[in-house]
This record gives sequence, structure tokens and C-alpha cells, in this order.
Amino acid sequence: MSLSTALRTLRDDIRAIFANDPAARTLAEVLLYQGLHAIILHRVAHALWERKVPFIPRLVSQVSRFLTGIEIHPGARIGCGFCIDHGMGVVIGETTEIGDRVTLYQGVTLGGTGKQAGKRHPTIEDDVVIGVGASVLGAITIGAGSRVGGGAVVVKDVPPHSTAVGVPARIVATRDPATGETRRIEHLPDPEGALFRNLRDKVLEQEQRLQQLEQTTNHHFFEHRLTLAESLWSILDENGGFRPCCPEEEYTQGEGI
Ligand SMILES: CC(C)(COP(=O)(O)OP(=O)(O)OC[C@H]1O[C@@H](n2cnc3c(N)ncnc32)[C@H](O)[C@@H]1OP(=O)(O)O)[C@@H](O)C(=O)NCCC(=O)NCCS
Repeated sequence: MSLSTALRTLRDDIRAIFANDPAARTLAEVLLYQGLHAIILHRVAHALWERKVPFIPRLVSQVSRFLTGIEIHPGARIGCGFCIDHGMGVVIGETTEIGDRVTLYQGVTLGGTGKQAGKRHPTIEDDVVIGVGASVLGAITIGAGSRVGGGAVVVKDVPPHSTAVGVPARIVATRDPATGETRRIEHLPDPEGALFRNLRDKVLEQEQRLQQLEQTTNHHFFEHRLTLAESLWSILDENGGFRPCCPEEEYTQGEGI
């Protein structure tokens, strides 16, 4: 790589930071970004790796990891306008290929599955954004202009201009690059919402059953009271009417004392 190409690449990397990070205000601030340090050191390590220089590329990569918390294997190919926002915890494997204007957030892993040899890391096409903590595993391709949601685990190809989220990642939307129009493909399951709806239905059902039970019980109660009163009345009637507990003679007997 000639000096002018190296400087052009550096300029593009700095521009990418300004384009992606609203917090980046001045060049002096951007020069402090560890994402920028990591990519500069990686470009040095990769140039040496390409020239088959032994040991030094690995050393540069390890020093970079120590200084920035970002681990990029010197063999990884990375295009221009590359931005690692916040950076810490990013891991990029040896056979990874990254296109132009790609953005990674902190904690992204572009790794192997541990089962493959040879090309075993992902290919990330141009203009891809990979969210915080996402893992892209295996020799898969993330198509141009796609977005991978934070926390996703991607183990299959993602077509261009799509949004992949979840574990394992699923395509939830695609964008028409000409119009910018987004089309939803899949609505994600909502287990908590489903649980609440289920509970609400159960409570409503039980309230209804309770009301029915109350109505039936009241009906029986009143019916029973009525029957009891009727029976008492008929007994009294049979005995010739109400018999006072204290007969009239007893009062009259005591009057003379
Ligand atoms: C995926 C992302 C790029 C948004 O893409 P988008 O195409 O605009 O997608 P939307 O916001 O329309 O979301 C589509 C669906 O995916 C869901 N979704 C979005 N991001 C998600 C994520 N990371 N994990 C799980 N689901 C997610 C949304 O809830 C929505 O589902 P719903 O409609 O059923 O509620 C964004 O959410 C994201 O994760 N960006 C990463 C940003 C980042 O890492 N920032 C770190 C700053 S330090």
C-alpha cells in the first residue's frame, strides 16, 4: 500500500467516525477513539501479514488488543471507511472479509463456529451495521446494506438490505435501496404479551363463573327460606294458631298476690 493510499484510507476511516457517531465533534476528539487506533494498527499488521512477515503482525495485533480492547487478526481484510464505535470487546477472526463503510459497535464478534477449517469467518459486504454485542458466526455472508440488531446471533446468510435480529437471528425486515421503503417480513413472537393476555382471559372467565355461581346460590337460598317459612306457617295453622310461651292464666294467677 502506497503512502497516499494509506492516507486516503485513514481519511475515510476518520470520516466514517464523524458520519456514524453524533458525539464526534472535532478531529482532536476523534483521534482519541480506540476504534481508530485499532484500525490503524490493524492496517499496519495486515500489510506485514500480506508480505508474509513472521511474528510481527501478530505482535502488532496483540499490542493493539492490549491498548484498545479490540482484537483483530492480522489476516482479516477490511475495506475503507471502517468504524468501530466504542470498540471494547470486538473480536474479528482471521478469514473475515469486511467491505467498505461498515460499522461495528462494541462487543461484536465476527468469529468461526469452531467446526470449519479454511475460510471459517464471515464476509461482511458494504454498508453493513452490526449492533452491540452481536455475534456473526461461520463462513456466512451479511449482504450489502443490511443491519444486524444488537445481541443477535447470526449463523446463516443475511440477504442484502435486510434487518436481522434475535437468537438465532431472523430476518424481520427488508429495505428497498432505491426508495428506502421498509417492508416487515416477520413479526417477532411476544411471549410476555401472550402470557398477560392469557391471564386476563382466565380472570374474566373465572369472574363469569363466580357470578353464575352466586346467582344460583342466592336463588336456592331464597327458595329454601320460602319453603321453611311456608312449612312453619302450615304447622302453626294446623295447631290452631300461634301459642304464646306464657299462657294468659299464669298472668291472671299472679294478680291476687
Ligand atoms: C436492528 C436495528 C438496527 C433496527 O433496525 P430497523 O430495521 O430500524 O428495525 P426496527 O427498529 O423497525 O425493528 C424491527 C423489529 O425488530 C425488533 N428489534 C429491533 N432491534 C432488535 C434487537 N436488537 N433485538 C431484538 N429485536 C429487535 C423491534 O422491536 C421490531 O419488532 P416489533 O415491530 O415486533 O416490535 C436496531 O434496533 C439495533 O439493534 N441497532 C444497533 C444499535 C447499537 O448497537 N447501538 C449501540 C450504541 S452504543
